[in-house]
Amino acid sequence: MTAETMAPAGSLLAAHDLRKAYGPTTALDGASFSIHPGEVVAVMGPSGSGKSTLLHCLAGIVPPDSGSITYNGRELATMNDSQRSALRRSEFGFVFQFGQLVPELTCVENVALPLRLNGTGRKEAERAALTWMERLEVDDLKGKRPGEVSGGQGQRVAVARALVTNPRVLFADEPTGALDSLNGERVMELLTEAARSTNAAVVLVTHEARVAAYSDREIVVRDGKSRDMERIV
Ligand SMILES: Nc1ncnc2c1ncn2[C@@H]1O[C@H](COP(=O)(O)OP(=O)(O)O)[C@@H](O)[C@H]1O
Ligand SMILES: [Mg+2]
Repeated sequence: MTAETMAPAGSLLAAHDLRKAYGPTTALDGASFSIHPGEVVAVMGPSGSGKSTLLHCLAGIVPPDSGSITYNGRELATMNDSQRSALRRSEFGFVFQFGQLVPELTCVENVALPLRLNGTGRKEAERAALTWMERLEVDDLKGKRPGEVSGGQGQRVAVARALVTNPRVLFADEPTGALDSLNGERVMELLTEAARSTNAAVVLVTHEARVAAYSDREIVVRDGKSRDMERIV
């Protein structure tokens, strides 16, 4: 196997032949993946096919049983836990389906949180948070708590929080899964627009074709195996 097949030229994040089992359940069965800087890639496939496991492996949250993952040419398996968590904090952003905002904090405090955890002072962190909230059109919600905003608004706050550290990769796992289609489309429009404006790559897990349509490229995961999908236009 050549270095090139391990990590395609110019790729920012690449995985080759990932395998992962949970007891008797095979979650990944030889999945490969790559993404370029600024690219939006949709990971499609039915429920239980291994999409979230693939995302968690790519993000260094779950170690695969075998296979390689490289970020910027560096093999994740060679890093220790604190190096991997530093990588997640500084280079990656995350948006999940729901339940990710801290209920006790206001929306602006939620968005500022990743910067605060990286040691940024409160004023500066909240100023940066507000800039992102304006881009996601939720700046008017700054003093509200997550329980006081709608699902679509909450996801836009979550996207602002994921992007506030200026990550190189945004991982989004079913980010619109709990929203109606109108709100889902608005979240996707704003998410992809914001990511493109900073050249962040987006790994977008979804089982909805309508959501995947916002991507540059789609891969499909089935029974833990991945393959490129031709876009039908
Ligand atoms: N932490 C876990 N423990 C046990 N089984 C798991 C775990 N995570 C995922 N699985 C199993 O692995 C398979 C793939 O799951 P997942 O990656 O969550 O799929 P998807 O996101 O496509 O719905 C499923 O059969 C699921 O039940
Ligand atoms: Mg999933």
